[in-house]
Parts: sequence; C-alpha cells; structure tokens
Amino acid sequence: MMSNLEKTYTTQANFMLHGGDYNPDQWLDRPDILSNDLELMKLSHSNTFSLSIFAWSTLEPEEGIYRFEWLDEIIDNIFRIGGRIILATPSGARPAWMSQKYPEVLRTNAARVKQLHGGRHNHCFTSGVYREKTQKINRLLAERYGNHPALLMWHISNEYGGECHCEQCQHAFRGWLKQKYNHDLKSLNDAWWGPFWSHTFNDWSQIESPSPNGESMVHGLNLDWKRFVTEQTISFYENEIVPLRELTPTIPITTNFMADTNDLIPFQALDYSKFAKHLDVISWDAYPAWHNDWESTADLAMKVGFINDLYRSLKQQPFILMESTPSSVNWHQVNKAKRPGMHLLSSMQMVSHGSDSVMYFQWRKSRGSSEKFHGAVVDHDNSSENRVFKEVARVGKTLEKLVDIVGTNRPADVAILYDWESNWAINDAQGFGMETKRYPQTLQQHYRSFWEHDIPVDVITKDQDFSAYKLLIVPMLYLVSEETIARLKQFVADGGTLVMTYISGLVNEHDLTYLGGWHKDLQEIFGMKPIETDTLYSSDKNYVKYRNQSYELRDYATVIDLNTASTEGIYEDDFYANTAAVTNHKYEKGQTYYIGGRMEDSFHRDFYAEIIKELTLKTIVSVGHGKGVSVQVRQAPEYDYIFVMNFTEEKQPVSFKSSVKDMFTSKEIIGEVILEKYEVLIVEKAK
Ligand code: GAL
Repeated sequence: MMSNLEKTYTTQANFMLHGGDYNPDQWLDRPDILSNDLELMKLSHSNTFSLSIFAWSTLEPEEGIYRFEWLDEIIDNIFRIGGRIILATPSGARPAWMSQKYPEVLRTNAARVKQLHGGRHNHCFTSGVYREKTQKINRLLAERYGNHPALLMWHISNEYGGECHCEQCQHAFRGWLKQKYNHDLKSLNDAWWGPFWSHTFNDWSQIESPSPNGESMVHGLNLDWKRFVTEQTISFYENEIVPLRELTPTIPITTNFMADTNDLIPFQALDYSKFAKHLDVISWDAYPAWHNDWESTADLAMKVGFINDLYRSLKQQPFILMESTPSSVNWHQVNKAKRPGMHLLSSMQMVSHGSDSVMYFQWRKSRGSSEKFHGAVVDHDNSSENRVFKEVARVGKTLEKLVDIVGTNRPADVAILYDWESNWAINDAQGFGMETKRYPQTLQQHYRSFWEHDIPVDVITKDQDFSAYKLLIVPMLYLVSEETIARLKQFVADGGTLVMTYISGLVNEHDLTYLGGWHKDLQEIFGMKPIETDTLYSSDKNYVKYRNQSYELRDYATVIDLNTASTEGIYEDDFYANTAAVTNHKYEKGQTYYIGGRMEDSFHRDFYAEIIKELTLKTIVSVGHGKGVSVQVRQAPEYDYIFVMNFTEEKQPVSFKSSVKDMFTSKEIIGEVILEKYEVLIVEKAK
C-alpha cells in the first residue's frame, strides 16, 4: 500500500499516453499512407506510438546489413507533429535468414520436436546465438535513438511466453537445479520425493524437463521447471536490456504482460511477481470479450478490475495499458465489435484502476496475413469518419482532460493474495476436482464483494509487505512456505484480519505436504484445523447456515476440527452436518476467519459486508448507485478523481452527496444524475 499520495510518473510523461503499436515497416512502399498516418494521428488525438515490434527483417534484412533510415524518418515525423515513441526491441520475431543459418535459435517443444521457422514468440531463451543477436540489434537501436527527444520508453520484445526443451535448455535447467540444491543431489531427490515410482536420480545428467513422452508426474520437478522457465525468460530479458541500461540509463523499461483470455485471469505460464522486479513500469495487454453471451457486462468488468489491481499492485504504482482494441479482436471465438460507448467506458476503466495510458494494438490494420481483420484505429478504408475512429478520437480528447490524474495512485486497506506458484501446484495436484480447482476464479469471487462496495483492493503477491493492510484475504493458498506462514502469523499478531479458505496451507514450497495435520502455526492462529476435504459432484447439494441464512455450497467442503475458534457457520447436510464450516478466532491483536466450503456469491456479499463494517473499511468517496455501476478512485494529495462507470445496458441513477466537478465539461454536479447505458462520468473532488 502507498502510504503517501505523492505522484509517480512511471512513464516520465506528464500526460496520458494515447496511441499504439504502429508498423510502418509494412507500408514502406506506400509513402502516401505513411504521410496520411500523420494526419490521422492528429485527428485521433493520439500522442504515442510503439515502433519496431516485429520489424527485425526490415531493420536487418541480411545478416549484418542494417536499414535504419526508414525508422529515422518515421520517428522524426512523429516527433514533428508532437508525438512520442515507445521503442520496441524486435526479438519477438526473427528474420528467416537467422533460423536458416543458426538453427539453434529455433524452439524445441516438450515432445522434443524442433520447430520450423514461422510464427513468432518461438525462439529458444537459452540460445547463445539468439542472445548475442538480440543484444547486438538492441545496442544499435540504443546508439541511434537513445538520445532522440521522442523516446519515452523501451518496450522489450513482445509478450514473452512459452518454453524451449532443447539440449541447451536441458543443460541450463540442470545448472539451475545444481545452484538451487547446492550441488547436492540428495536434497533434490528429497524435495522431489525421489523414491516414489523409483524416481531417485544418481546423476544430474538423468534429469530432463517435463515431457508428454517422458516425465510429468513428479510435482516437485514440474514446479521447479516452471520456476526455471520464468527465470530463464527473465535472464533472456536481462540480456536484452544490457545495452539499454548502459546507453540510456534514464529511459524506463517495460515489457508487455498478458492475461489468459478465458475468464480474463492472470497469465499463467510466467510468474509475473518475479518478472515485475526487473521492470521499471508494468504494462499489459487487455482484451476482454465485451458483450459476450456467457456473463453480464458487470461480471466481466469486475474481472477486469481484479486483474488491473493485481498488475498495478505488482509495483504499487501506475501502469501502462500497452494494447487494447478499439473495436474487435481476431482471435476470440466470436469477434464482436465494441458497442457504441463501450470503447470510452472500457478505456476509462483501465485508467480508473491505475493506467496512465490507453494504447492499442494496432494503429493501422495490416493488409495481409493473420491480423488483417483485427481492430485498429485506422481501418482499410483509411478514413477518420468511421464509427471506430471517432470513438478513438473521443477517448483521446477525454485523456487530454485527465492530465492531473497522471501519476496518481490508489491506496487500499484490503489485500487479496495472488500466488502463481500456488496456482501451478494446485493445478498439478491430482486430487480434489479435476475441473473445479479454479484458483484465479476463486480469487475473483472474493474480490467481487469489494468491487461492488467501491472499496479499493490491492491484489498482492506473497513477497509483498502485508503490514499496511487491515484485511488480508488468502483464498486457496495451497502452497505456502514456512516463511510465508510466519509472516501471516505476524500479520495477525500485529492486529490484522486474515481470511483463509478450503485447500489452503497443504504443501510447502516443494509441493510436499505438511505432516502432523495442518502446520502448527496455522493451527495456532486459526484455533482449528482442517481434517478432510470433501469434493462434490456438480449434482451434489449442500448448504452452510450463516447468521440464520442458508447459502449454497459447491465443489468443496472442509471438515473442521475445532479447537479454540468460534463457529460462525455450519454445514447443513452430509456426514459433517452441524459441524463448523466458517470459523473465527482471535489471536493476539488480530483475528482469523476460515471459510471451509466454496460458497455462492451471496455468502461472500454478506460475510464481507460484516467485515467491512467491523473493520470500518470505507469507500474513498461515497457515491450512491445500483448494481452494475462501478466507482473507482485515483487519489492525489489535494484531489480525488472519481470514475463512475455504468456497466449495464440500462440507464442508472447515481447520486453525489456533495459537490464534484465534471472533468470533461467542468460543470459542478450535486445530487442525482442519470448515467446512460455504458456511460462513464469522471469527476474531481477537492479533499
Ligand atoms: C497481442 C500481441 C499483438 C497482437 C494482438 C492481437 O497479444 O501482442 O502483437 O497480436 O495480440 O490481439
């Protein structure tokens, strides 16, 4: 949590960035189009463009032959019209000559099949040749553009992801394991529970990365491999930025993070909590499926809120929306256009959660290949008169009014803990329900109650400071080290309220279960211990009685052995009927709650409503509204900036108790106003 409200200018710009990925390298034989782009940039109120992503074959068409003149001209032209640039390193895709001459740059998949040249994001992160080649071209870019006044930021590669299983990677993995286990094979065998199915190794060379045609059942190995993949990707990134740190030490560096699209959950394959430490600014690419047919607009908006609060909390400072679409994408199952008004609303939602930009993929739609129908600011009609372009210009104009918000933060008293490692381990666990673990979705469920109450939340990771929060929620924290347990205990001892759920605290950092029941420190702070986890079929029904109300329970029910905790809710059915389902325990200056079953949303609403009252958790500014309206606040020392967003298809009345100023029209507002479908109101209030 930010204890003070001082602004942090993460992008070094004192304006909201608006623009996006621009690929002039696809249009070099069309000077008319390139010059038209400059006109359209002005008309769309755009100010920042990400350049040279995937431009390697144009920058270095043959090995050692470089062509930068086109880029010089583009950058100069953008600067001339008042624009700035984010310069990307081109490593996300490489020229064919390189794969042909140096096959070691090609990735090998888990089945040990070497991939052919093609696609993108498919290089080996260990390859010495690829590391050398990327560093070389990055150095040339930094030498040439490092002092250009248009340069705002570095964008390293594009959406790092994936893994390589080639011989070089196996070698690096074994080296990484040796370091981790202090060259002691016995420690590794112990951590991986070696004798199980006779998996004890007696030489490091026997160890292989997980494979569908080899090993996949050793959970400790799977976990270490995932950790290695994160660290190897970071190491590749660190190699990329050596010349940039050397030649442009004051230019901030980012790389664009992603989300997994189903349910808009955090990207699963890399542990971003580790990666974040190596970046100056967090940026991410958001592509929610607005107007889908499986959830309400408000439900989806809540999930967008959750992931934004996670990515912002990774560095506790404003972040960058690096990519979004002005209309539709081309890779959802159904690529629906954003309805009128949704572009402004969805863009402002990002800003309300801490983004200091609205950037797009893509500036101009490509003419050929797989993304020619992906939404863009400039369509194939090359016009500023179509609906999408006008909606983009409206966002641009709105952002120009929001300069005072740049750099402001969103302090919170509530934190929810998201842990990549717990998620990996729980998904690997053979047990419970194969389809129902749904760790990130469970966190979203807990987040929802605060989102609906307009209470700011930080979604933090386990190595962050807990002490600044009044309430810490750790749903399904399956994997938890002794060290984290000690920190949770301290948090409660110091006066914090800790909420934990079913399937928590079961294994340590090697995915080895704790023996002797639950960890003794957890037993001490919770005054109970979980003794059995029952997994339910979807046709099974059970209920929890809490404050004289029955709430439906699904998927999981933990049988609890009560010690000194009090019973707050009981199971209604089955062999554990009338036993504790929800407990509370006072420990030193704080208290804990344990929720034994996976409860329906209305339980969380009522349960957290009580905690909100008890801990006097407050909205920053009170705005009256109904369901589906979200109020998010960014704070500066003197002002609160309040975003009131209607994520419903109906008009919604909202009311302000005291006077606020509309940041777009400068008009004073007090009392009730009606928000149209998808309307967003951005107001400021002096403190
Ligand atoms: C992103 C990627 C872009 C573009 C976009 C399309 O994941 O970074 O290059 O492919 O998706 O939505």
